[in-house]
Amino acid sequence: MWRGPAWLALAGALRGGAWAAARGLGSSYASLLLSSRGGLSTEISGSWFSGSVCGSEPQHRNFSGSAGFLGRIKHIATMPEINTDDLDEQQVQLLAEMCILIDENDNKIGAETKKNCHLNENIDKGLLHRAFSVFLFNTENKLLLQQRSDAKITFPGCFTNTCCSHPLSTPVELEENNAIGVRRAAQRRLKAELGIPMEQVPPEDISYLTRIHYKAQSDGIWGEHEIDYILFVRKNVTLDPDPNEIKSYCYVTKKELEELLEKAANGEIKITPWFKIIAETFLFKWWDNLNHLNRFVEHEKIHRM
Ligand SMILES: *[C@@H]1O[C@H](CO)[C@@H](O)[C@H](O)[C@H]1NC(C)=O
Ligand SMILES: *[C@@H]1O[C@H](CO)[C@@H](O)[C@H](O)[C@H]1NC(C)=O
Repeated sequence: MWRGPAWLALAGALRGGAWAAARGLGSSYASLLLSSRGGLSTEISGSWFSGSVCGSEPQHRNFSGSAGFLGRIKHIATMPEINTDDLDEQQVQLLAEMCILIDENDNKIGAETKKNCHLNENIDKGLLHRAFSVFLFNTENKLLLQQRSDAKITFPGCFTNTCCSHPLSTPVELEENNAIGVRRAAQRRLKAELGIPMEQVPPEDISYLTRIHYKAQSDGIWGEHEIDYILFVRKNVTLDPDPNEIKSYCYVTKKELEELLEKAANGEIKITPWFKIIAETFLFKWWDNLNHLNRFVEHEKIHRM
């Protein structure tokens, strides 16, 4: 079993799985993480697993992606004003980050704020951005999962893969050769969300497999529409999660993930739509072949989900 800052038995939910909770939503996570040494421990009860599966089934739409497309969106629509007063302050600040706008073949066509990229009103008009999903396995081939914090604006409280975020529209993260910019962004976010030291996950230890294009609503206002770079890491790392990002985390075996997916299907827990798609299509095949991932590398392909 992983010896992290705190490991808690997940009563009745995941046999053999041990979830650590990152409690509270403040920015000072040190004081909020449960410490095994400090003796503060809480059994995560079945009540953690309530609510309906989040998001709706993603669907692929044919929007005629091209460089002229962005101009058309911006011409037709002024970006909507959304009141963010009731949202988490730290998460609202992140909405100002500039994401990379792309056409449906992943060609860069501009930049737009994280906020505008995630408003359904814009997504409905075809706004699409570049993203990534990291799947980090320890040397025992267990997959690190996280539960998104309740402070997250999209898909709060949902269970998902190790780390999902966006490369920024900056020179270092825009660099496309061998997806180096995206892999640098992954290194940045593994540190920000999970506290993994940057030197433990340099870009050369992050493998780019393929891309997945999907769209999903989180609620009436917010959603996702991304081309998602699938990134794999196999390494033992040290964790120090930020509770503003992450509510709990756990390394799971295939069997434990299957149980989690079953709970999601029964509406007992929520999982993110991209994790659902990837888990139902490619994940177990890739997991079975962690020593031969090269045969699944498809850098030119974009899977439309
Ligand atoms: C990685 O971590 C696992 C789980 O704690 C442990 O069993 C294994 O020995 C570690 N492997 C290495 C190479 O450190
Ligand atoms: C998408 O729509 C365009 C314009 O209507 C059409 O030319 C193209 O064949 C369509 N592509 C797909 C994949 O359906």
